Amino acid sequence: MDNKRGQWGSNFGFLMAAVGSAVGLGNIWGFPYKMGKTGGFAFLLIYLALVLLVGIIVMLGELALGRKTGKGVMGTYLEFSKKYSWLGYMSVISGFLILSFYSVLGGMVLRYAVGYFLQLIGLDGFAGQGTGFFGYLLYDYKGILLFYALFMIITVLIVMGGIEKGIERFSSIAMPALFCILVFVIIYVAIQPGAIDGYKFMFMPDLSVFSDPQIGFFGVFKAAAGQMFFSLSLGMGCMMTYGSYLSKNEHLQRNSIIIPFADSIVAVMAGMAVMPACAAFGVEYNRGPGLLFASMQTVFDNMGGFGTVVGFLFYFLVLIAAITSSISILEVCTAFQIDKDMAKGKEPNRKKVSLIYAAIIFVFGLPVALDALGSGNALIKAPYELLGFEYKGPGFAMWNDCWLDLYDLIAEGILMPIGALVMSVLIGWVWKTTIIKDECEKSGDKFKAYKYYDFCFKFVVPVIMAFIFYAQLVDFFG
Ligand code: TRP
Repeated sequence: MDNKRGQWGSNFGFLMAAVGSAVGLGNIWGFPYKMGKTGGFAFLLIYLALVLLVGIIVMLGELALGRKTGKGVMGTYLEFSKKYSWLGYMSVISGFLILSFYSVLGGMVLRYAVGYFLQLIGLDGFAGQGTGFFGYLLYDYKGILLFYALFMIITVLIVMGGIEKGIERFSSIAMPALFCILVFVIIYVAIQPGAIDGYKFMFMPDLSVFSDPQIGFFGVFKAAAGQMFFSLSLGMGCMMTYGSYLSKNEHLQRNSIIIPFADSIVAVMAGMAVMPACAAFGVEYNRGPGLLFASMQTVFDNMGGFGTVVGFLFYFLVLIAAITSSISILEVCTAFQIDKDMAKGKEPNRKKVSLIYAAIIFVFGLPVALDALGSGNALIKAPYELLGFEYKGPGFAMWNDCWLDLYDLIAEGILMPIGALVMSVLIGWVWKTTIIKDECEKSGDKFKAYKYYDFCFKFVVPVIMAFIFYAQLVDFFG
């Protein structure tokens, strides 16, 4: 492999980076909140089924294609044919959209971590607002921009460091730390009186949500599917890019199972920190972004003296999770440009490339940072005012008012599922699954369960994806 592009130092380092990419706000905020909205246990069940039937398959597809070509997402598709370049562009655009809103949220997490740190050393970290800080922060544009910028700077500094010395080194320290803190928070939450209701909500078999006319099976299915793609960092070439830095000696198939497995465990663990905490202090689960900020702050506030310590640890943990994810998205864009430069015979300049892309993405994210997450009376007009059109479908009200939701809809709701669907069809029907098998067996290991993967690439993934689109269309047109 070309050293100019870089390579992982070890399989452990790769796993920490890949699991770090997967574990993020999607696990700690999205998972508990979607679960809270769509019936707890029912959501968990469908989510896990989708990981087995779709997540692991698409994961292996991405890792194998990336390693096979040794290129990022655009480079990989171009390796097969010029006519697939639109897939590459779609992925990079998804990266722009996701990283921009992700970093705004990351900046807010950073703000809360700093706030708790200040509280710890005896200062007022929340501008005299106490648990009302979230409502204040949304309209504190200077503060939001400052922390948005800081989060982006942290992200770009790590990516500038390169694959082994930047991303791998950071993830190898940060991920084990995250895990330890999460275990601590779970235990501390478990000893709070009333926590038990949170576990009940998560684990008591209850499928009544399927007969809820507002949500129903479709509703749960769609939420779980979108969550699955987002949480596993699939559908926009993130894992393809990470796979391209992997040595031919590593066991791809095993890695493709470990990453979704670890991600799901952390998602469930995050639920076991957040839900029981909310239950113990009488805070609602289904509050959208407010869950991660306003609700959790209320929880820590009510924990008494030690709450400040737990609060700091919690936001520090979320911050780590967000950074190891944001670097993987910026890496997709960076690799895109590096591969392009190298194909032209130019000397790649990682530092310059990642800096330029981070700056462009920062500008992309300004509407998200300045619209108070759609709470109204913001500095910037809502999407429907600025773009001049309004969605009328049932689930769409939010996307009219909130740039974050609009970006998320375009990326997670449209571009990423198309990306994953087309990739599976190409693997299953055009290039045939043997290219995955051949790549997996390069390490000398036999590709076990080939029949299962083959069947899933050809039928299960496309059918489930088609189903997701159908559900999406029903939403659009009522
Ligand atoms: N998976 C991360 C999370 O759960 C976010 C993320 C990182 C992502 N890379 C991605 C999402 C690529 C979609 C695509 O928070």
